[in-house]
Amino acid sequence: MTTDWEPWPALQRKSNHVVVKLLVLAILAGLSFRLLFSRSDVLHPVPVSPADEAEREASAESMAADVLGLEDDDGGSLSTNLGFSVDEEQVVSKPDRCDLFTGQWIPNPSGPTYTNESCRFIEPPQNCMKNGRHDTGYLFWRWKPHDCDVSPFNAKRFLDTMQNKSWALVGDSIVRNQAQSLICLLSKVEEPVEVYHDEQYKSRKWHFPSYSFNLSLIWSPFLIKAAIFENDEGESKSVNRLHLDTLDQKWTSQYKSFDYVVISSGQWFLKTAIYMENNKLVGCHYCPKLNLSEISIEYAYNKVLNSLYRFIKTSEHKPIVMYRTWTPDHFEYGEWFSGGLCNRTEPYKAGEGSGRDVDNFMRTIELNAFTRAVAAEGTRNGIRLKLLDTYQLSVLRPDAHTGPYRTFHPFEHGKNVKVQYDCLHWCLPGAIDTWNDVMMKLIMDE
Ligand SMILES: *[C@@H]1O[C@H](CO)[C@@H](O)[C@H](O)[C@H]1NC(C)=O
Ligand SMILES: *[C@@H]1O[C@H](CO)[C@@H](O)[C@H](O)[C@H]1NC(C)=O
Ligand SMILES: *[C@@H]1O[C@H](CO)[C@@H](O)[C@H](O)[C@H]1NC(C)=O
Ligand SMILES: *[C@@H]1O[C@H](CO)[C@@H](O)[C@H](O)[C@H]1NC(C)=O
Ligand SMILES: *[C@@H]1O[C@H](CO)[C@@H](O)[C@H](O)[C@H]1NC(C)=O
Repeated sequence: MTTDWEPWPALQRKSNHVVVKLLVLAILAGLSFRLLFSRSDVLHPVPVSPADEAEREASAESMAADVLGLEDDDGGSLSTNLGFSVDEEQVVSKPDRCDLFTGQWIPNPSGPTYTNESCRFIEPPQNCMKNGRHDTGYLFWRWKPHDCDVSPFNAKRFLDTMQNKSWALVGDSIVRNQAQSLICLLSKVEEPVEVYHDEQYKSRKWHFPSYSFNLSLIWSPFLIKAAIFENDEGESKSVNRLHLDTLDQKWTSQYKSFDYVVISSGQWFLKTAIYMENNKLVGCHYCPKLNLSEISIEYAYNKVLNSLYRFIKTSEHKPIVMYRTWTPDHFEYGEWFSGGLCNRTEPYKAGEGSGRDVDNFMRTIELNAFTRAVAAEGTRNGIRLKLLDTYQLSVLRPDAHTGPYRTFHPFEHGKNVKVQYDCLHWCLPGAIDTWNDVMMKLIMDE
């Protein structure tokens, strides 16, 4: 099985200066972005022009609900819909919405619902326990939105509802990380049968026979047509070449067969890449030696997200589509290429960690693109688009990454051996399971 688990494959090449510079550049880009825009702009990136004001007033509520993934109360009892008991104050101030994505982590003595033993679908780089992580405190937390509860993933209910349905998760290795979690959660009820995998086990498909439920994982880290010149060790023979105006057929060709699609991207756009439009070379992102015009991350990612949403809106097939927002890393004491660590053992408290500039920069692009897509629709009819905004709950979990335990017993040759940390991917079981808890609530409570 492939060992390529990272969206920044150059992680293993300590001497790749281009990529190092690239990352520094990305961080600088984030920094200058931060300097250009006030903090409140960054945090509230929803654009509002005065002309839109009237219409906005009218549709603000429903729009906000769509954009922020808030829930509607469609007339049912609040306490049953939202799983919390409503006190009078809440009824007065915020009667019918719960923002699933704003809250805090609270202790959860019952811990995860599966273990490294009970789930055989955990891939080695995510199997922290098996790889020798001894502290277990990171397993005993649950996400608590301010105004409601998210119950633990209910596999039986999920599979019952998804009978005869087909899901796809599309994107990079973080999407794969989430897919593994979902399979572990579901396999408590039924173990799936793998019915397809590509040569490198990057795109795969599982079938749950008793429920006639299909789950596809589609490897498409850029979401667009891309010639990726990297081997499994992350060594590149040439610069990646991306077709900015062409979505990746790997997922678009199968789109019609899915009832639910979870999409995410972003990390790979930090890399050096040559960009094409209309089959012509239009520039390059961070290629100082090639004398090509610079294509910014923002330009490229925006363009991709706009075509993505255009595709979704113009497609006659209307699955429920969830865009999952940017996943933050938690390197401290250095970057991934310079000995950075993630050795915390507890979540941040609310406000303690809000992410780095590059995180906020990328997430803002995503939020703005999503807002534009929903707004352009002009009506809620036919919008089956949701934001799975896992960013904030993730940014509070510096303790939940695989860190050194992406490899088997990293310290067996002594504490002082130089070990490279992965502070981007997540341990299984662990905090990323919550993405699926929240996802389930987002779609089940319709
Ligand atoms: C699971 O983790 C425990 C340590 O928490 C370890 O003793 C056990 O061997 C692991 N099992 C597998 C199958 O990796
Ligand atoms: C699941 O996939 C199989 C092919 O592997 C297909 O025949 C079947 O129709 C799919 N089921 C659903 C519900 O899409
Ligand atoms: C799923 O498909 C089977 C076979 O076509 C059918 O008997 C069953 O009623 C379907 N279940 C649901 C929930 O649609
Ligand atoms: C870079 O490209 C520009 C125009 O595309 C050209 O004028 C210039 O000479 C080139 N520089 C080098 C070093 O090739
Ligand atoms: C994490 O590592 C840093 C640098 O080695 C050290 O100063 C710090 O005490 C460590 N934190 C924990 C919680 O182990």
